[in-house]
Amino acid sequence: MSRTVALITGASSGIGVAYARLLAAHFDLVLVARRADRLHDLAAELREADAAVEVLPADLATRDGIDAVVGRLEDGDVRLLISCAGVGGYAPLADVDPAEIDRLLTLNAVAPVRLARAALPGMLTAGEGTVVTVASLLAFGAGQESIPIPRTLYAAAKAATVAFTRTLTHELSGTGVRAQVVCPGVVATEFHDGFGHNVPSAMSAQDVAQASLAGLDLGESVCVPGLEDQSAALDALLAAESALLSGGNRATPATRYLKHQPA
Ligand SMILES: NC(=O)c1ccc[n+]([C@@H]2O[C@H](COP(=O)([O-])OP(=O)(O)OC[C@H]3O[C@@H](n4cnc5c(N)ncnc54)[C@H](OP(=O)(O)O)[C@@H]3O)[C@@H](O)[C@H]2O)c1
Repeated sequence: MSRTVALITGASSGIGVAYARLLAAHFDLVLVARRADRLHDLAAELREADAAVEVLPADLATRDGIDAVVGRLEDGDVRLLISCAGVGGYAPLADVDPAEIDRLLTLNAVAPVRLARAALPGMLTAGEGTVVTVASLLAFGAGQESIPIPRTLYAAAKAATVAFTRTLTHELSGTGVRAQVVCPGVVATEFHDGFGHNVPSAMSAQDVAQASLAGLDLGESVCVPGLEDQSAALDALLAAESALLSGGNRATPATRYLKHQPA
């Protein structure tokens, strides 16, 4: 009897490999990343756990690469999509090669949306399925001047995936299909030249993947693996968003603008 299929991007290292290893006992897998040799090595390892494993090499920073994975998802049998592929590309915006802007935003923000769009019809027809996107705690760091990482593009892309998933969750209500965004802090992987291996507080990739899967069981649409009192933080976030929305949506500008005469 065939098992449920999970498609994991970023499955050639780090958190994506950890998801694949945890899921192989229960899912057949489609592994996506650029380094085909690594995907084939992991597939051989996981087949020993009786998983059927497909290898789908693709560069998700390109439209062709995304289209290849979209084509696989349109088969309609994937019930768990994990968009984990991502890069940091940390640099001040003025130093970023303009061509890299498109690649970074495509990989980190556009690909998860295109893949979710391709996976959802099959999940909605089946009345079950899960879309997981790995973002970052830096999605919540836009206002934090003290973080010493030049991260404009990365933060923007990851914040987009957080907003995407939180909003999608409402759209999917009552369908049997779920969405979760995962926001780790520093993780000890190859990410950004393996800098996490030198950070004492870095979490392991296995713990991140494990927390995400446990969070799904707990019904979490936002999973912050290291956060103890998650519901208090998310409630505070929701309250701040509500204040901005309800306070700012008015027909007249706020008093400070009416009083101020631009020079
Ligand atoms: N490590 C951290 O501190 C940290 C913290 C918060 C969030 N995250 C997020 O966690 C996710 C996984 O990162 P990780 O820590 O596991 O890093 P990692 O070990 O460097 O893994 C990144 C994965 O993304 C894949 N990837 C990169 N560029 C790609 C492309 N153009 N097309 C397809 N796949 C591509 C890589 O495979 P190939 O190179 O073979 O293509 C690799 O499998 C990322 O989205 C990252 O933003 C990481």
